Amino acid sequence: MHSKHSSQINETISWVGKWTFVLAAAGSAVGLGNIWGFPYKAGTEGGGAFVLIYLLCILAVGLPIMMAEIIIGRRARKSPVNAMKNAAIDSGKTSNWQVVGWSGLISGILILSFYSVIAGICLNYILISASPAADVSSVEQFGIVTSSSGRLLFWHSIFIALNILIISAGVVDGIERMVRLLMPMLFILMLVMVINAMINGDFARGLSFLFAPDFSQVDATTFLRAMGQAFFSLSLGMGSIMCYGSYMPQNENIFKTSLTVAGLDTLIAILAGLAIFPIIFAYGMEPGTGPGLVFVSLLSAFVDMPFGNIVGPAFFALLSIAALSSAISLLEPSVAYFEEEKIVSRFSAAMILGLFAWFIGIGSVLSFNDWSDISFIGNLNFLDSIDYLTNQFLMPLGGMMVAIFAGWFLKSNLALDELSSSHILIFKIWKFFIKFISPVLVAAVFVYQLVS
Ligand code: PFF
Repeated sequence: MHSKHSSQINETISWVGKWTFVLAAAGSAVGLGNIWGFPYKAGTEGGGAFVLIYLLCILAVGLPIMMAEIIIGRRARKSPVNAMKNAAIDSGKTSNWQVVGWSGLISGILILSFYSVIAGICLNYILISASPAADVSSVEQFGIVTSSSGRLLFWHSIFIALNILIISAGVVDGIERMVRLLMPMLFILMLVMVINAMINGDFARGLSFLFAPDFSQVDATTFLRAMGQAFFSLSLGMGSIMCYGSYMPQNENIFKTSLTVAGLDTLIAILAGLAIFPIIFAYGMEPGTGPGLVFVSLLSAFVDMPFGNIVGPAFFALLSIAALSSAISLLEPSVAYFEEEKIVSRFSAAMILGLFAWFIGIGSVLSFNDWSDISFIGNLNFLDSIDYLTNQFLMPLGGMMVAIFAGWFLKSNLALDELSSSHILIFKIWKFFIKFISPVLVAAVFVYQLVS
């Protein structure tokens, strides 16, 4: 059933199922960052001490900004550009605040362009890990994959095509239907991987790597790194959550749903660590992060492991699903804007914007081979430059602006209306954090990332 009910000005779209916002937002939040970012940082930055600091960052910065994005999105029931504009105008402020929405749309497409290339490699690894080539080490295997621009382009194209397909089918028939299918699959696969780690891995060592608190590793930069991770992991500052929030039914409780999304995101990040590191230790490898951890170290563990040709593909399927449900949340905000402004139909918007991201992604494909020596920003190659521009610059800037806007410029009664299903105390605590705590802490991360 399509629940399209018309408001005075515009036709609005709404999630149909009660849990859909939670599933969609958790789908956006749970991505490559949870699986190859969080566990390694936790392990090397003080174990349990880092996990504790990370939780504090989620509560003090992530949760208030997530709530602010949903408040702004849901009250306008519009794409991030127009949601920011409406909120500003209704608070008697300049409509220029819409640049925050624009920045989200642009960074969404830019992140999608390289996220898709990496997700394409994950798709290819489902096949590779099912029948690993004999006599080829996992380092050589990664070299074979990344040196072929044709192969990378092929899988990048498949991944973008999946995104276009889902987004063009619509909010309810595309996104809602997909997250209802993908998120339970992701959760089950993750539990299977943790059980596998208990059986085939050095679980005790994995546990102590992740959780044994070591406060001697903690310094000021630990806080900043934990905050950066929390921010990226919750998909904040990009319009994704604001856009998904604009489809949230009016009777859903913003505080409870945000808390659930943040909780699920953290749970999956911890489970990922419990799935990966026991295996890494049992097979005598060094803990690492990023592509090297999954495409090299884990692949070689799967090759040696009993039933590795089943566990391996299941793991890379898990990674691909996590990436897909994040990627659609990067494309949706700009497609929503095109559709709402009646620039083109949803289908054409998904095609045009998807192909645009595909085209920029070619630069990231070439970063692995032909362009690997060409620098764009500083001495960074194309992929790393786009990554830097979005993750270190646009994302924290966007989040900071949302926090400043919601804390200092948004009329209190507008926010209060949206939080009316919670106790007044929730509103007061939220207001305090979004005004005094969150913007300052995000600003600290922003400045730190710029200078380091
Ligand atoms: N949160 C995703 C991850 O942890 O991999 C990445 C991401 C998705 C960031 C969507 C930003 C975003 F808007």
